[in-house]
Amino acid sequence: MKNNIPDGFKQVCNISALKEKEGQRFFVDDVDIALYKVNGEIYAMTNVCPHQHAALIYSGFIEEGYVTCPAHGWQFNLKTGKLPTGGNGLQIYPVYVENGIVYVKVIKKELNW
Ligand code: FES
Repeated sequence: MKNNIPDGFKQVCNISALKEKEGQRFFVDDVDIALYKVNGEIYAMTNVCPHQHAALIYSGFIEEGYVTCPAHGWQFNLKTGKLPTGGNGLQIYPVYVENGIVYVKVIKKELNW
């Protein structure tokens, strides 16, 4: 069967494997990512916190559109990855869902900052 998966997107998991506001950690092309489902939307981002590089973003607390790093409480916008002050935070990755399967396009190098 032909699918419409855009170029560069890699299969990560079944959408039913994600629980609301409970992050999960995956490795996609050796990139450590955190995946969240919040209000039915899927968000993908680097799992590594830019503060002291704790690989704990997947276990963060979700509140009002932000994920909180459990190590020292830095917060990141789920959609943009930015800090509440607007500063750069987490690298965000595009997500594509088709037939109940979640696909993510990872960017190996963080070229934008
Ligand atoms: Fe994430 Fe310090 S390592 S807030």
